[in-house]
Amino acid sequence: MYKPLMTLTPEQQEILDGKQGETRAKMMEVVVRYGDIFHADKLLDITHKKSHFVTSFGLSMLKPVYPLMDELIAAGCKVEEGFTMDPRPLDYENVSCGPLERFVFSGIMYGKQKDYEAQLEKIGLDDKDGFTCTSYLRENGNTPKYKDILAWSESSAVVFANSVLGARCNRNSGILDTICSILGVVPNFGFTTDEGRKATWKVIVKTTKKPEAQILGSAIGIKVQEEVPYVIGLDKYLDELPSEDTIAYLKDFGAATASNGAVGLYHIDKITPEAKELGESLIREDAKEYVIDDAELERVYKSYPIMWKKKDAKPHKAFIGCPHLNLKQLEDWTKNMVAALKEQNREKLVINTVFTASPKVIELFKKSESYPLFLKTGAHLSYICPLMYLDNPIAGSKPIITNSNKLRTYTKARYYKDEEILAIITGKEQCK
Ligand code: F3S
Repeated sequence: MYKPLMTLTPEQQEILDGKQGETRAKMMEVVVRYGDIFHADKLLDITHKKSHFVTSFGLSMLKPVYPLMDELIAAGCKVEEGFTMDPRPLDYENVSCGPLERFVFSGIMYGKQKDYEAQLEKIGLDDKDGFTCTSYLRENGNTPKYKDILAWSESSAVVFANSVLGARCNRNSGILDTICSILGVVPNFGFTTDEGRKATWKVIVKTTKKPEAQILGSAIGIKVQEEVPYVIGLDKYLDELPSEDTIAYLKDFGAATASNGAVGLYHIDKITPEAKELGESLIREDAKEYVIDDAELERVYKSYPIMWKKKDAKPHKAFIGCPHLNLKQLEDWTKNMVAALKEQNREKLVINTVFTASPKVIELFKKSESYPLFLKTGAHLSYICPLMYLDNPIAGSKPIITNSNKLRTYTKARYYKDEEILAIITGKEQCK
């Protein structure tokens, strides 16, 4: 029997001792061992009860997951308040695929999708439209409050929840999110503690204009890795929260910090809630310093390797929306595409361009005045995760462009700034 290093309540100890059955005892042992590795002193109750899981894909290769889910179901384990999930991996209706790509997707890669979703329903998945990595957005409705304790693991959602909402969550892993959520507890260490939320880097932004969110996030992620940055000098470019533009900016910035490094929490001076409450007292005395000016951003941008076989190839597809876009971003892109096409005397985009957003944001967008204009450009709208799509070796070997630094990091897709990608998809410029 495992002897915990942390202190457990009598009820937690009972679960570990098997008084609530063998399955729950195993789950508790996993959570306690996880906490002990990171020197957690105790388990905290999860206060935001609706969870979010990262493992949304029925990847055939993930063989241990499916019998584990069966065991959870057989033991009657459930997340009582339900949960949202990361995006679905496939959407044949809105993202074109050749027959070979389809065979690899449905026959080899995601063959377990239907069965897995049926298993998820049995453990509490209650929202068929809850498949998105941006469940925390107002439009999607799974929004934790300040100081809520969570057991999430999607890196872009964890960093947003910690930083922009001021909730408390470590960078957990897939399945650990499930186990913690069913038990309703998480180990107390790192970002769930006041000390763990202090900044070990002071980042000073000295750019002459608003920095591209995805490049600023990338620069900071590469520099600080898994540490906590406190960013000074960015507030003059951002409206106060809850401005939709600021939410979109910090969403994309955070995803880049979390993927180009492993940032799970950042503070933006005068903008994010803890920075507003505690100011520079959040910065540790021994914090290191990183100054970012125009030249530094350009240096980082130019350092991205081009992984295409032919550097001047015509892009096969463009993906915009990783993490998923909010409603305002879809409306802004539509406005910008319409204006850029008009300038080029064109009606349609010259590159197959897929915008990705949550099912709920898509539904709202379809009711908006922008939607008919969007359709006229020939752009596509999907709820998939572009990364899961490009994990298919056939799809992933084609020349893909994106404005997502996360997608660039994990695939061979080539990153372009928003303005550049707009010029490419509307035919004003070509990839150089
Ligand atoms: Fe979201 Fe998939 Fe990108 S989960 S952040 S769209 S890699």
